[in-house]
Amino acid sequence: MDRMHVLVAGGAGFIGSHVVDHLLEKQYRVIVLDNLINGKRSNINHHLENPHFRFIKGSILNHPLVDMLVKKCDIIINMATLGVRHSIRYPFQNHRINAEGTLILLEATRRHHIKRYIQISSSEVYGTAIYIPQNENHRTFPHTVYGASKLAGDAYTRAYWLTYGVPTVIVRPFNTFGPRSHYEGDAGEFIPKSIIRALNKLPILIFGDGQQSRDLSYVTDIAHGIVKVCQSDRVLGKTINIGSNREYRILDIAEMIRKILGDHVQIEFQNKRPGDVLRLFADSSNAQKLIGYQSKVDLQEGLHKTISWFQSQNFHQMIKDEAGRNWE
Ligand SMILES: NC(=O)c1ccc[n+]([C@@H]2O[C@H](COP(=O)([O-])OP(=O)(O)OC[C@H]3O[C@@H](n4cnc5c(N)ncnc54)[C@H](O)[C@@H]3O)[C@@H](O)[C@H]2O)c1
Repeated sequence: MDRMHVLVAGGAGFIGSHVVDHLLEKQYRVIVLDNLINGKRSNINHHLENPHFRFIKGSILNHPLVDMLVKKCDIIINMATLGVRHSIRYPFQNHRINAEGTLILLEATRRHHIKRYIQISSSEVYGTAIYIPQNENHRTFPHTVYGASKLAGDAYTRAYWLTYGVPTVIVRPFNTFGPRSHYEGDAGEFIPKSIIRALNKLPILIFGDGQQSRDLSYVTDIAHGIVKVCQSDRVLGKTINIGSNREYRILDIAEMIRKILGDHVQIEFQNKRPGDVLRLFADSSNAQKLIGYQSKVDLQEGLHKTISWFQSQNFHQMIKDEAGRNWE
């Protein structure tokens, strides 16, 4: 069988590396392009001996490199991103990767007549829910430069479909957690930060009153959804949410982590983060209809798996990189 060739930009990152694991399981050939600014070699090391896998350390802003790699592939998945807290301090850099970087990948995809381009967007493009669950027609009202630059990436992707007929798909994952998630620096997310802090006997930090809510998916569910998007023609030209269809308050998640790790775990409330979205809750019925998407791992089970994974890591060392108010 001729294996399809997939370029995963940002494939050494948290979600990207799980997408790579699943693509290789499904007999694709994979090239990862990642500059390792937030991605880690340890996320992909286990594939380095696989003849169907290649890792290229480089940036999506490098036009000739992108052009050379895109030309070799049948499918492009763009997950190369700088995150929401990064955008608060470095709006221009954030815009360059999330918006301009997307345009560079799209243009190479158009030039080489590639079969499919998958843009990994974010629920942050919606801003706080004005109705729930949020379908793909929910207004887009980003609160941050991250959300705005991701939305620009979506707009460019749609423009390449409408103007040039490039076969594109926009996938909007809602919040995602699991092994390899970021606890460190400005990439650090609530669940991994809280786990690392609790394992090191430090209080879990909640920014604001903890009433903010999120739709949280376990990372293998999201990765499997993205791989399904590679396999279906019904998704072309579409925008698709993927989430768990469940809503949890941040405070409840902190309590769940405390329940698993023990009552000694403290919770500390601090001033809220600027631009924080208050409510996100996905309507994933399109994903269910178009690709048969169904999330399999619920929050409770996912938290147990994620905690076990962090317990198997060197969490005493990891705490040094956990940055508390990691946007200031
Ligand atoms: N984690 C979540 O909860 C979540 C939720 C919704 C959407 N998403 C989206 O999923 C995708 C992956 O996010 P993630 O959470 O895995 O983040 P991540 O930071 O782990 O992954 C992004 C990767 O992009 C790489 N990268 C950054 N700039 C680059 C550049 N110039 N050239 C090449 N590579 C570069 C980073 O090194 C990193 O490996 C992103 O598109 C993100 O917007 C994530």
